[in-house]
Amino acid sequence: MQNCRIAVVGATGAVGRVFLKILEERNFPFSDIRLLASKRSHGKKMVVKGQELTVEETTRESFRDIDIAFISASGAVSRLYAPIAVEAGALVIDDSSVFRMDPRVPLVVPEINADDLTHHRGIAAIPNCSTTQMVMALYPLHRVNPIKRIIVDTYQSVSGTGTAAIEELKLQAGNILQGADAKASVYPHQIAFNVLPHIDSFMDNGYTKEEWKMVEETRKIMHAPDIAISATCVRVPVYTSHSEAVHIELTDPMSPEEAREILSRFPGVKVVDDPSSNTYPMPWDAAGRDDVFVGRIRRDASNPRGLAMWIVSDNLRKGAALDAIQIAEEILKRDLLLTPSRRR
Ligand code: A2P
Repeated sequence: MQNCRIAVVGATGAVGRVFLKILEERNFPFSDIRLLASKRSHGKKMVVKGQELTVEETTRESFRDIDIAFISASGAVSRLYAPIAVEAGALVIDDSSVFRMDPRVPLVVPEINADDLTHHRGIAAIPNCSTTQMVMALYPLHRVNPIKRIIVDTYQSVSGTGTAAIEELKLQAGNILQGADAKASVYPHQIAFNVLPHIDSFMDNGYTKEEWKMVEETRKIMHAPDIAISATCVRVPVYTSHSEAVHIELTDPMSPEEAREILSRFPGVKVVDDPSSNTYPMPWDAAGRDDVFVGRIRRDASNPRGLAMWIVSDNLRKGAALDAIQIAEEILKRDLLLTPSRRR
């Protein structure tokens, strides 16, 4: 793999900080790294691979001499800077929902559809965190026995919203334990000791945008435009890792034993499933780990071709930073950095 020059927009954020840690862990081959954030963080020091670096404010000039730009800040930041970075010659790996459904933009979970990267035109997107862990567990089954329908209910941690939400949960929990009131500012309601059936804004059809992302992104990543999907996305007072209760209907019946066998052979998936010893995946255990954990695999008692399962993964790792770094590794391995001919 060749060494490359990378820029990280959102380096100071919840995903950005994990991104820098994973770069070190995987010894990602960069020769130069530029840490970018908002004006507020300009001049802040951060340590990467033992080296102290200074964070810079993101500007139009930030992408000069950069090969790969990772953007994880906000939709508005991605919308503004992704085209500027591409124009400057950088391949953008974007964590926002802005470009995900653009047919020219590959939406990639490398274990599933790394080949889609060959068609990139300067931007590759990573899926929404709740989509990534679900397709990691469902695609291996779908490959051998196509899935017809998915019903998913999520239990999503606050770190998916960012640093301010983590702080809000901490503050509210402390206040409530001391008998004081909890003031809500990041979410529309108190999140400590509570559960909110509401992530992202509501649409006319009654679903939220987060729920609709799970529908559209799953179909795009798995190249399965006809799967019927219904999602309910719920925010829970957990710092890290999303959990999902998933019910699928397959083309033919599949036993839980066969599903466990197939899943345990898929890279990046770990089966944790022994009810006799109360063993199942939990967000506390998954936090800080790279795998997607699957348990509670059982026949769906309401459907002869159905299976039910419980999927847990660290939303900041496989749900965001790790997926982005795996994409960058594929880009280097396949020699797919941005060239002028690709921008047309
Ligand atoms: P900053 O720390 O300077 O505010 P989180 O998801 O944890 O809230 O993090 C969001 C990330 O996006 C942070 O690194 C934040 O930087 C960055 N960010 C926010 N606004 C901008 C902006 N206008 N330009 C570049 N980065 C931004």
